[in-house]
Amino acid sequence: MKITVVGTGYVGLVTGTCFAETGNEVTCVDIDVNKVKKLSEGQITIYEPGLEKLFERNLKEDRLFFTTSLEEGIKDAEVIFLALPTPPGADGAADLSYVLNVADHLGKIMTDYKVIVDKSTVPVGTAEKVTAAIAKNCKAPFDVVSNPEFLREGVAVDDFMKPDRVVIGTQSERARKVMGDLYAPFVRQGNPILFMDEKSAELTKYAANSFLATKISFMNEIAILCEKLGADVDMVRRGIGSDERIGKRFLFPGIGYGGSCFPKDVQALVKSSEDVNYNFKILNAVMEVNETQKLFLLPKIKAYFNNNLKGKHFALWGLAFKPNTDDIREAPALYIINALLEEGATVSAFDPEAMKNVRQVVGDKITYAEHQYTCLENADALIIATEWSVFRTPDFNKISAALKNKAIFDGRNLFETGRMKELGYHYESVGRTP
Ligand code: UGA
Repeated sequence: MKITVVGTGYVGLVTGTCFAETGNEVTCVDIDVNKVKKLSEGQITIYEPGLEKLFERNLKEDRLFFTTSLEEGIKDAEVIFLALPTPPGADGAADLSYVLNVADHLGKIMTDYKVIVDKSTVPVGTAEKVTAAIAKNCKAPFDVVSNPEFLREGVAVDDFMKPDRVVIGTQSERARKVMGDLYAPFVRQGNPILFMDEKSAELTKYAANSFLATKISFMNEIAILCEKLGADVDMVRRGIGSDERIGKRFLFPGIGYGGSCFPKDVQALVKSSEDVNYNFKILNAVMEVNETQKLFLLPKIKAYFNNNLKGKHFALWGLAFKPNTDDIREAPALYIINALLEEGATVSAFDPEAMKNVRQVVGDKITYAEHQYTCLENADALIIATEWSVFRTPDFNKISAALKNKAIFDGRNLFETGRMKELGYHYESVGRTP
């Protein structure tokens, strides 16, 4: 099948590459001339494990193309995916201007039947708006489909190639057939393609992310309670997670969720609810809990240093909002850095992938270590903000040799509390008695 993907950001590039991998001919369109040049020359523009290999192969085998021209990009295409940014506007609602501008342009240049697919996370009612924007100028027949993505950064290729489910919102038989054929190779193991109306598909995406965010904020509050009551959140997590109705996954407490999706999508669903005069009470609480959770470790750190962090130096392991990505959007580490600097402390940070991005935002307000152990030199304590695998079984001898105090504040519960006690550390984590 010939496919066009408009927008070569994270979702667009993964989508385009993975569709090429199943034999489709994919043209990706982007207005960013530099990006298109880089991608055409074989330089990948995002960090995502496993993507580069597929990208290089499909480029070499002439199944993946890049262009800045929408006209050229959609020629002969049967399906056009819109993978454009939908940033939060000033009022928290998703800004649809990128999506609607492209829809408007498409309407002017389409000459034969095409399926236009909303892949970006868009509020309920967007398929209708996209349809209207295209129809304004278009003589050719077309269908607009909502097909939200459920990719996780860091495992996006796997999520795309083996999805738990594919959600397709359309009431057109013709579009349903095209989309069903396109996704058939991805659901061979029997996972469902769920066909539904456009609005339900659009809401499914927000409901999924908001529910997952709710699980996290819920567990973060349970963790707070565990500390107050002297219980251990790891035990409670296992205790509740083995109930299949609750499930084992996504119950890990920590220093809050970050990234480009959960914060934005929860906020957008709250806004959508307000727009129809409904106050989504649970989600407001989810956001509030998450805001305070990002600085959960701060009072513990302050208490250890007698409420005075002036002149103290901290080693910080982990900057990305989660492991296996260089993404620092809404990363709890950034909040911690700001809070420590405000208290008059200094920070040396290490992250396997995200230091370049942090340097662009934080600049030389902190120092950047080349290695996780050099990061510790002269530090008064170690703070852990991201659960990268390389931090999970560190050399504790090296840690204690470098730190001025044997103190670790762990926002991701990487170590056994009993073991840390044996090793003589002052170890504080989330929801467990030190
Ligand atoms: C999330 C969803 O998981 C994807 O299904 C969705 O497609 C994507 O948003 C999106 O809308 O594009 P992502 O933001 O990449 O994916 O990251 P997750 O792995 O879901 O983690 C989100 C945040 O939750 C991270 O900050 C992570 O540290 C935190 N988290 C996750 C916890 O604090 N505890 C957990 O148990 C799990």
